[in-house]
Amino acid sequence: MVVISLGGSIVSRNGVDIDYVKKFRNFMRTCHVPLYVVVGGGELARNYINYARTLQMNEYTLDEIGIMATRLNAKLLITEDTYPEIPETISEAIFAGRTYKNVVMGGTEPGHTTDGVSLLLAEKLGEKKVINMTSVGGIYDRDPRKFSDAKLVPQMSYDEAKSLFFSEKMDAGLNIPLDLLAIKIAERSNIALYIVSKDLENVRKVINDEDFEGTVIGKFDA
Ligand code: UTP
Repeated sequence: MVVISLGGSIVSRNGVDIDYVKKFRNFMRTCHVPLYVVVGGGELARNYINYARTLQMNEYTLDEIGIMATRLNAKLLITEDTYPEIPETISEAIFAGRTYKNVVMGGTEPGHTTDGVSLLLAEKLGEKKVINMTSVGGIYDRDPRKFSDAKLVPQMSYDEAKSLFFSEKMDAGLNIPLDLLAIKIAERSNIALYIVSKDLENVRKVINDEDFEGTVIGKFDA
């Protein structure tokens, strides 16, 4: 089986990208391995969190709202051969995966993001690979949205990813498309994290251990 973290902004940006949702559902149906897909909240989560913030709701409640958005996005990806509910815990997801080919979920509890969920799920399953699909499609030596000559970094160690996380935190826009929990869980269980774009042919290559476009974070010498 394969664990995929599908970045929320791939699904939800200027409304829902329904054409992509259809493509992804088809990919799930035709993929030769069982899939666990953890979907992010994207614009839907951001909008609702911002509304709630103007109502002075606390951070825990904002996270709960974010989780609801991730689950709403996840609901769109349930196909005929997918567990018909959205699991609310990692254990429920694992149980569901024993009966159904595919399982789709969103967040679990406040305090982290769906990237963290995907790593915890892989850890519990004993999987050594997580595919993280993001709008940017990898880690670059500088922000590819601002610099046209930004270069893709094909491999990165856990330590490098952690230091990038902390240095990026200083800037306004976070450039590393992962939360710290995700990197730490990956490191402690030696799970390789493949950061790729929404290109589904490329995702198939990662699943088949073929050459792919993106960044792998793993046990490399810094
Ligand atoms: P995302 O996983 O989409 O977070 O969850 P993100 O990194 O902010 O957004 P992407 O990667 O661009 O899609 C959306 C929000 O839901 C809450 C958090 O508030 C998060 O920011 N959340 C999500 C949780 O509190 N717990 C979870 O397990 C998942």
